[in-house]
Amino acid sequence: MAGASSLTELPQIRYEDPLARIDWQAVDRECWWLPPQLLSLAGVPQFERLDLRTRQRLSHLEYVHLLEAGLWLESQFMARLAHLAHRCPDVGRRARFLHEVREEAGHSLMFVELLQRSGYGVDSRRAFGTRAVDLLGGLLSSRSALFWAMVVIGEELPDQLNRRLRRGVEEATLSSVVYRIADIHTRDEAMHCALAREQCRQSAAQCPAWQRALLAPALSFAIDLYARYVYFPSASTYERAGLAPARLWRARAHANPNRRAQVSQMLRPTLEFLNRSGWRVRSRYGPRR
Ligand SMILES: [Fe+2]
Ligand SMILES: [Fe+2]
Repeated sequence: MAGASSLTELPQIRYEDPLARIDWQAVDRECWWLPPQLLSLAGVPQFERLDLRTRQRLSHLEYVHLLEAGLWLESQFMARLAHLAHRCPDVGRRARFLHEVREEAGHSLMFVELLQRSGYGVDSRRAFGTRAVDLLGGLLSSRSALFWAMVVIGEELPDQLNRRLRRGVEEATLSSVVYRIADIHTRDEAMHCALAREQCRQSAAQCPAWQRALLAPALSFAIDLYARYVYFPSASTYERAGLAPARLWRARAHANPNRRAQVSQMLRPTLEFLNRSGWRVRSRYGPRR
């Protein structure tokens, strides 16, 4: 996967507008948008006792949360990648950055289209974690090792959830539109993750060990913020799904051992990669050592 092709080669990819590849008439709310076993409250007895409609509605809102996380992260990537492309002296690398900008814009357009058609709209309340990461990210140079380590995290954490969503299609009646979005997204993301990993490896190798040691706590902090934001929806998600009191349901999700185990598995590949690249990082949500 990572490093399969040189950064200066643009792979032969035919670009197709994802908006034109989806049958938007098929948007359906009478089914699961995330497989039930992937919900933050999966296995929680009080949740499992609720009727099917309510549990499916939470699957819609948790997926909407994933779309909102995607919109936030992709807006960051697009801005940085466009800037990097503009300053890049290597034409091949510049083309790869711009190709990724085009793909991320296509993904964001898919997300917005589904949000509009579903009637759920966008929740404009912003989590503390996103503001903290914006602040931290804004201070970093696009050439720094810490910046690329954060890009790897931002690309891979939502992608892990999307990959599980695709695998869960055999066990639940999943929305065909949601499945298609996840399918298109994960295929494109394989290339994005490879590019981010390659940049991360190169920049970490050029960063002195003492600097990485000094920056590792900030990176571990960022991993926790991302993981908390992406994998543990805010109280407003439960509120919009009709689960009251929302804060109690959120606390149940946080304490849910099934969710904890899933999150730990989803974080594992990224944590292992960063450690192999010379970052001594850990996460309170990751596997116990
Ligand atoms: Fe994307
Ligand atoms: Fe991406």
